[in-house]
Amino acid sequence: MSKTIALALLLAQIISLTVAASSVTCSNHPLLTKVQTSVNSLLGNDASGKGKTKSDALFKSFSNAKPSSKSAADLGVCSAYANQSSCCDKNIVKLIDQAALLKSKPIQSKSTVFQKFTNIYVAQANKICANKIQSSPLTSDAIQKNTALNYFISQKTAQATCKINFAKALNSFTRGALCSVCSGVDKVSDYINAQGLLKVSSDSVNSFVTAADTATTCYQNLFTTDNLTKILNELNGAYIKAGDACIATLNTKINSVFTNKIIQNSDGKSGKLCTGTTVFGNNSACESLLQGDANLETSNSNRLLRSEDDEVFRLLQTTPDAVVDPSGVSVYTTSSTDNSVDETGSNITANFDQVNTNSSNIIKAAIAIISLMVFAF
Ligand SMILES: *[C@@H]1O[C@H](CO)[C@@H](O)[C@H](O)[C@H]1NC(C)=O
Ligand SMILES: *[C@@H]1O[C@H](CO)[C@@H](O)[C@H](O)[C@H]1NC(C)=O
Ligand SMILES: *[C@@H]1O[C@H](CO)[C@@H](O)[C@H](O)[C@H]1NC(C)=O
Ligand SMILES: *[C@@H]1O[C@H](CO)[C@@H](O)[C@H](O)[C@H]1NC(C)=O
Ligand SMILES: *[C@@H]1O[C@H](CO)[C@@H](O)[C@H](O)[C@H]1NC(C)=O
Repeated sequence: MSKTIALALLLAQIISLTVAASSVTCSNHPLLTKVQTSVNSLLGNDASGKGKTKSDALFKSFSNAKPSSKSAADLGVCSAYANQSSCCDKNIVKLIDQAALLKSKPIQSKSTVFQKFTNIYVAQANKICANKIQSSPLTSDAIQKNTALNYFISQKTAQATCKINFAKALNSFTRGALCSVCSGVDKVSDYINAQGLLKVSSDSVNSFVTAADTATTCYQNLFTTDNLTKILNELNGAYIKAGDACIATLNTKINSVFTNKIIQNSDGKSGKLCTGTTVFGNNSACESLLQGDANLETSNSNRLLRSEDDEVFRLLQTTPDAVVDPSGVSVYTTSSTDNSVDETGSNITANFDQVNTNSSNIIKAAIAIISLMVFAF
């Protein structure tokens, strides 16, 4: 092979590499479809429906955008991607922030194991101690409204705090994942491995896994033998005829359901339910962690404790779509927007008022005015 041909081949190769490297545009950004799908799915949790139109417009602008380096201020909650050749603008990151808030709304509306506890206690007490209830039938509402149940109230407050903190962690994890769409077109190939998995930083994954572990421990502590005994003594004392033999049967029944293993951040195969590596995929097994077994209130089974062999338990496993990597992106982004997260989710309301869809029109208008002025002089 002559030197000229070799040189020509080398040049051709360099050119094709250069073209390949620069071929990521805003419209074919590898994370665009995944993020847009996730955002639209989250906006489905918004009763007002206000975000959807804005989302469509903003992702259209995103596709048509010319990548440019953005300041941290422009990128708001997604400021981790400042100075990269990003397709995001200040409005799409506001949309992302609100969409992430909506993540926990349906999750908070579900009862946790502790909230289910009251219903189960009431059902069993009415059954097992039928004629021995002070004011029959006992209702969950009566227990919830009884301000004299000091220990019950302290545990109820503790579990609410843990539920809220876990919800905020789920929002932060979602927000971090959505922000990945702001990664620069020049950088994005560094963030995705050969298998198409998103590379995520170990710090951000640890933040999420730690939050899940903390929530798990919190719930396990509510149901330690000591703590469960304290709650049962208080409830039995308030509602059941003192000294009746039914109390022992009732306690045994409740103890058999609420063991201290009722909540476990475990997939039954020595992995965790909340791994921090299911970023865009179905992570519902982790998200519903604090709800415990779905059949808790309906099941007559004494043995609801999950074991390594449980068939049902296996179904809870999640499929990772991300991989921990030293050069990975952060998938844990906190925001003051999450301050409105409450125990039941009723206070979680996305606000799209600050999300404008016509900022590019303003720029166009400005350019038009400037060109007119240029013409005039
Ligand atoms: C972006 O550049 C500014 C100015 O050089 C610097 O202060 C800032 O830390 C950079 N941000 C990131 C996320 O790299
Ligand atoms: C009982 O509950 C309290 C409050 O939630 C908790 O601090 C404590 O660790 C629990 N007790 C045990 C023995 O786990
Ligand atoms: C997500 O997975 C759960 C099982 O863990 C399943 O019940 C649910 O239908 C799945 N949701 C979607 C949207 O696929
Ligand atoms: C609901 O959200 C508003 C605004 O963030 C806050 O002032 C209020 O205290 C919240 N209420 C509850 C019950 O969390
Ligand atoms: C966008 O357009 C709407 C309707 O034309 C207008 O009310 C709004 O002020 C505009 N937004 C900005 C930032 O100018």
